Amino acid sequence: MTSRFSVSGLVKKYGDNVVVDDLDLPIEEGEFLVLLGPSGCGKTTTLRCLAGLETPQGGSISFKDELIFDAESGVNVPAHRRNIGMVFQSYALWPHMTVRKNIGYPLKVRKMKEALKDGSIEQAARMVDCEGLLDRYPSQLSGGQQQRVAVARGLVSRPDLVLFDEPLSNLDARLRDQVRSQIHQLHQQLGFTAVFVTHDQSEAFALGDRIAIMKAGKIEQYDEPEHVFETPVSEYVAAFIGMSNRIELLRGHDGWRTTKGDAVDLSRALVRGVPDRGTEAAARLRPDDLLLHASTAEAPAGNVVLHAELVDFEYGGRYYDVTVRSGEDTLLLRASAAEHGVTLKKSAPGDQIAVSFDPSALRVYPDQADAAIDTVSQTAKTAVAPVPAKLAS
Ligand SMILES: Nc1ncnc2c1ncn2[C@@H]1O[C@H](COP(=O)(O)OP(=O)(O)O)[C@@H](O)[C@H]1O
Ligand SMILES: [Mg+2]
Repeated sequence: MTSRFSVSGLVKKYGDNVVVDDLDLPIEEGEFLVLLGPSGCGKTTTLRCLAGLETPQGGSISFKDELIFDAESGVNVPAHRRNIGMVFQSYALWPHMTVRKNIGYPLKVRKMKEALKDGSIEQAARMVDCEGLLDRYPSQLSGGQQQRVAVARGLVSRPDLVLFDEPLSNLDARLRDQVRSQIHQLHQQLGFTAVFVTHDQSEAFALGDRIAIMKAGKIEQYDEPEHVFETPVSEYVAAFIGMSNRIELLRGHDGWRTTKGDAVDLSRALVRGVPDRGTEAAARLRPDDLLLHASTAEAPAGNVVLHAELVDFEYGGRYYDVTVRSGEDTLLLRASAAEHGVTLKKSAPGDQIAVSFDPSALRVYPDQADAAIDTVSQTAKTAVAPVPAKLAS
């Protein structure tokens, strides 16, 4: 099946800096596509190319089978003639215009005179629960209200494509969940096609029909959330979607071992791209998949067991976030407070403990010194992601 929307071979450079690097992105009609990647990987630039706010040096873009940009033949439909809605991180409402005028702005720019009068503005405001705010100015709204107005503005002209550039990043945690859920429901109701940019894996899993993980201007993996979650194609992707634990593996004459010397059987792990005779590999593991034990003897049969020492533990209500060290590896896990609270409170940093995991939870990749992965795992470390609801059942 050919996609109704497609981006192919897209190249955008600033001077010598190639920011979007021969990018292909087929998008199905009605699909909610999430572009996920760290800061600086080219997400915003890609959106701006789609919107017609940047002129790429190469490639082509078509919407509903109509070519709207083609570097070779010089086709370049101007931004205001592309039927695209945009929602920005900074809300970007006009401060001197009322909510009504802000929401109506895209209709005015596109000279949709009928829609300005037929109740489209009120309807868009109602969709985001802002119909009571139509005569206010943006300065009289909370951040969450401003972003909901921005969402209404992005949808009011019933665009072919709606682009979201990290629209939840400036909201506090509670509002972020609310607006996210509202965007999800609106997509279910209205069925617009969306490209949603974020660096937040939980947003990507919650919203995406498909997720494209971006690395340095290219797509590293493009797949359904469940596939990305279970089978990340590279260590970069694994680290970015919450497999923040990295265990270095060394192959000796009797199989793989950690730097601490514990044996790791990889026969049930997902191993990708590690050469047959390779002697080093990097295993990735979610904090949720790592169990804490007072001693190695307590680990369930069949689990890989690592000797470790306690580094730190932080109370989180129902759980503790526990940091341990095993050889060269620092690992994070989430331990149930009911099960481990009493023992942990009697423990001190440096205590010898054990951790274990089911070997099928491991994702193993070639050991590459890749700066991008290090940056990612730093950020991933701060977020122990819960299993998305969709996948938990
Ligand atoms: N107008 C511009 N001029 C020069 N460099 C730019 C411009 N816009 C973005 N860049 C560079 O392009 C790279 C990607 O930026 P961006 O697309 O904003 O990334 P992201 O949205 O993923 O954080 C960055 O290195 C940024 O500095
Ligand atoms: Mg950006």
